[in-house]
Amino acid sequence: MSDQTTTRLVIRQPDDWHVHLRDGAMLADVVPWTARQFARAIVMPNLSPPCATTGEVAEYRARILASLPQGSKFNPLMTLYLTDATDPDDLEAGFALGVLTAAKLYPAHATTNSAHGVTNVRAIYPVLDRMQQIGMPLLVHGEVTSGEVDIFDREAAFIERVLTPTLRDFPALRVVFEHITTKDAAEFVAAAPDNVAATITPHHLQINRNAIFAGGIRPHMYCLPIAKREVHQLALRKAATSGSPKFFLGTDTAPHEVKTKESACGCAGIFNAPFAMEVYAMVFEEEGALDRLEAFASENGPRFYGLPLNEARVVLERRECQVPERIAAGGGDVVPWMAGEVLPWSFVGIQPLG
Ligand code: NCD
Ligand code: ZN
Repeated sequence: MSDQTTTRLVIRQPDDWHVHLRDGAMLADVVPWTARQFARAIVMPNLSPPCATTGEVAEYRARILASLPQGSKFNPLMTLYLTDATDPDDLEAGFALGVLTAAKLYPAHATTNSAHGVTNVRAIYPVLDRMQQIGMPLLVHGEVTSGEVDIFDREAAFIERVLTPTLRDFPALRVVFEHITTKDAAEFVAAAPDNVAATITPHHLQINRNAIFAGGIRPHMYCLPIAKREVHQLALRKAATSGSPKFFLGTDTAPHEVKTKESACGCAGIFNAPFAMEVYAMVFEEEGALDRLEAFASENGPRFYGLPLNEARVVLERRECQVPERIAAGGGDVVPWMAGEVLPWSFVGIQPLG
């Protein structure tokens, strides 16, 4: 199936296990792109202010549902933004009600809208204890934030300083190490027990840190965690295409208006929802692993989360696809990932029945 003669790819409909859908006008303009290809998505809670209680998450979910195109069956799976003040009872009630699928740990000041994040993981030990008891997944933005740690070392330092001790203290806690960017993280997850998994973005499979500085500074290549050296990019490509059930699709699509990216202090985040499956298919094909795309995109995630697999199918075909330079969203423009490039695979549509 992975030879160049494959002209049509029909696989189980995928889910996106890490998205930023934003709010208001931006939400209305970006959610159709995710809902076009994916049946479900894990929605990040880093609004401003963040969705830090079950009530706030439920209201956000209602706004997402109200923004969906008519007839869309897209199911947003919601996450709680953990703070030093998270109430374990509220979290448990939200999980029991089905409002919450998981909770997200942002170390304070690690990334966009993380100022209210957790200052020290010890502050949320009662919450982690409860999550371990009820089997609720913890999603981590795996970077330390202390200024003395080099930006390219923050993920590796997180493994040593935060993740390893946390898993020692909560060995049965279900953890998704989100958007991994290093060989260290890929190896850590591969060697960890089954309750630890990771998501991998399309852009971290495609670029390394040189792309951020190719011929000048490239704000649309900037996201957090930042892309690392090539050796790390290659390790991620190996992990994603390895067939291991521990690695699954999470785009980390994170739209920012063009003027906030192209600025003296540009925002971190890459908007890759519009052509996500086309890009993953291209990478898997380059690795000679098209036959492993379905597990990565559509099976490993639901199995980790204990959810049923989707029955519909996504159809891609080998036909050139031109990515536009800009996409109108939120009253302005957003530059999509791979803007202006031609991709070898095109999205055809979703077949409702398997
Ligand atoms: C995300 C955003 O803009 O919300 N940015 C990013 O670079 N990935 C936040 C995040 O996931 O770190
Ligand atoms: Zn993210």
